[in-house]
Amino acid sequence: MAITKTVSLPDEYRALSMEEKINRIKAAKAFFGERLFIPGHHYQREDVIQFADFTGDSLQLAKKCGESNAEFIVFCGVHFMAETADILTNSTQRVLLPDLAAGCSMADMATLSQTKRAWNTLTDMYGDSIVPLTYVNSTAEIKAFCGENEGACLTSSNAKEMVQWALTKKQRILFLPDQHLGRNTAYDLGIPLSEMAVWCPIKNELEFTDEANRENVQVILWKGHCSVHEKFTVNHIQELRNKDPQINIIVHPECSHEVVQAADEAGSTHHIIQIIEKAESGSKWAVGTEMNLVNRLAMKHTDKTIKSLNPYMCPCLTMNRIDIEHLCWSLDSLKNGTYQFQISVPPDISKYAMIALDRMLISVK
Ligand code: 13P
Ligand code: SF4
Repeated sequence: MAITKTVSLPDEYRALSMEEKINRIKAAKAFFGERLFIPGHHYQREDVIQFADFTGDSLQLAKKCGESNAEFIVFCGVHFMAETADILTNSTQRVLLPDLAAGCSMADMATLSQTKRAWNTLTDMYGDSIVPLTYVNSTAEIKAFCGENEGACLTSSNAKEMVQWALTKKQRILFLPDQHLGRNTAYDLGIPLSEMAVWCPIKNELEFTDEANRENVQVILWKGHCSVHEKFTVNHIQELRNKDPQINIIVHPECSHEVVQAADEAGSTHHIIQIIEKAESGSKWAVGTEMNLVNRLAMKHTDKTIKSLNPYMCPCLTMNRIDIEHLCWSLDSLKNGTYQFQISVPPDISKYAMIALDRMLISVK
């Protein structure tokens, strides 16, 4: 879903002191009470996450929004997460995103027209043998495409279960839009790289590995990636291990296959948090994921050494667009009865996207 409108932050909000912004947000929360729910993704900034009523990974946030009865959901995360919340809530609830320009570069790597074009070519090639699966980091239109074509959504927490589910339905998967999560998940399930091919939406063609041939392909990976997680490399891992053989490396599965293979652990943001929480006092960790989460973990677990796997840190610029000023502005606007930050998925798209999300939520409890 294209981001339709961006309005720049009024100067008034830049001029406010931190105390004034905090007080305004607290006042808005008190004013709305139970009518307002603020979910926050783990990658959100510290000054924003302090106001979240619930924090979680994509799956936890989607489930929580689906269960919420709040009239207003002010989503501190990115566009596809707010769209998912809108799809999973009823028509009387409003979902708002404090900065409408907070998109996700990976989600933008698969458009509906590219996907339809790929589907036509691939179904000509392989017949009715493909299930489309989309990572939730995709637009509502891509989710709807999957729902309409017997496919489903998945997140980094349930990717394995959903790939297994899809392979009970048909012989092959088209995995959108993150080639790395797709490759890492399929490989973990024992599918060799030679049985995976990459769909290039720019060249509109299937790229095979050397050994692969057309017939034995089980997983077709969309050539998309996360521009944050691609910045972690095997060299970073080697350098850190050379300096300190005791260091543990944990990464998000949006990192490349080589990085995930070289790391000690990989998993969703929730998984990363859990592993570090349970780790022994005194243990050392290099984390390959967005820097707000890495910094938060380091601040929280002062008995452990925690740093970013990439020495230059890796911010997700779009997640960071949601700052305290935008949160304050969106809540003030809401109090004034204007819904300029609303994310609203059209009903014809929402209907099929819901099917794809439901297949995920029902298949994996
Ligand atoms: P999680 O579902 O693991 O929180 O990941 C979301 C995301 O966008 C990672 O880049
Ligand atoms: Fe998208 Fe990557 Fe940011 Fe996650 S970290 S929201 S995948 S750009």
